[in-house]
Amino acid sequence: MTTTHAELATPTSPDHVDGVLNYLADKDQHPVSYNFKPPPGVPARTGTYAKFMVPIHSARAIMGELSLDRQGFAVTCQNSSVANFYDADEVRRVYYPEVEWLVREFTGAVKVHVFDHNVRSRPMAKRRENGAQEPVKVAHNDYTLKSGPQRVRDLLPDEAEALLKNRFAVINVWRPIRGPVQESPLAVCDAQSMVQDDFVKHVLKYPDRDGEVYSVAYNPNHRWFYVPNQQKEEILLLKCYDSDGRRTRFTAHSAFEDPSSPPDAAPRESVEVRTLVFFPPDIAA
Ligand code: OGA
Ligand code: FE
Repeated sequence: MTTTHAELATPTSPDHVDGVLNYLADKDQHPVSYNFKPPPGVPARTGTYAKFMVPIHSARAIMGELSLDRQGFAVTCQNSSVANFYDADEVRRVYYPEVEWLVREFTGAVKVHVFDHNVRSRPMAKRRENGAQEPVKVAHNDYTLKSGPQRVRDLLPDEAEALLKNRFAVINVWRPIRGPVQESPLAVCDAQSMVQDDFVKHVLKYPDRDGEVYSVAYNPNHRWFYVPNQQKEEILLLKCYDSDGRRTRFTAHSAFEDPSSPPDAAPRESVEVRTLVFFPPDIAA
């Protein structure tokens, strides 16, 4: 049975809320974060962030128009047969193939490679349970011009050069584990309201490699959206990289405190899956 967005939208969904987002304080910095003990005298993280209050609009009114190649995000519906999203083996065995199919259908890709997932729950993260992490309350994008293709070379070394000849993208697939989300939802910025200059390189140091993400600098043009009361069948797709510069390449996103949350709201629980998405040769090119 398919469920439509109209059935899922609750009558109490606000049309926008004013939320506080953490942005990089200015563009003239090059933040570096260590995921291990830095060398003596080197700070574990650099980069200063500042809070900005912004309107965050309901995406429900424009769900049908959303496009990964324009806004950089989209919402679709899919049920899952996963019984326990905190069981990483079950997620890999049952959910990864579901996501692969979903992303292939949604985008027209020829190959989708699911390579990673995170579960998020603040109380579980605090108790160090289930490998859960907290929501990320900083505006960011997961990959950069450099780290997008680097991920393909790291994960699929034998096929990488052949695969990278055609268009490729990184798409995150974000869903609530329990719905509706009542607390710390995920906000996404319409990529059409952003310029490349808003994205600032942020190096992530790992023991064996350097990763790169983008931090995001404030720009009053930014237009933010979220899915109020997001249900567990409602999947948010986020474009985190695209090799094709004619389309949206990156999408800023951030968790935020929703001022319309009920006082007894259950803490948000979510799972996000990262996918490498490969397209057929562009015959028009
Ligand atoms: C993501 C992400 C943060 C959150 O899915 O890429 O940054 O709080 N999620 O869910
Ligand atoms: Fe992210």
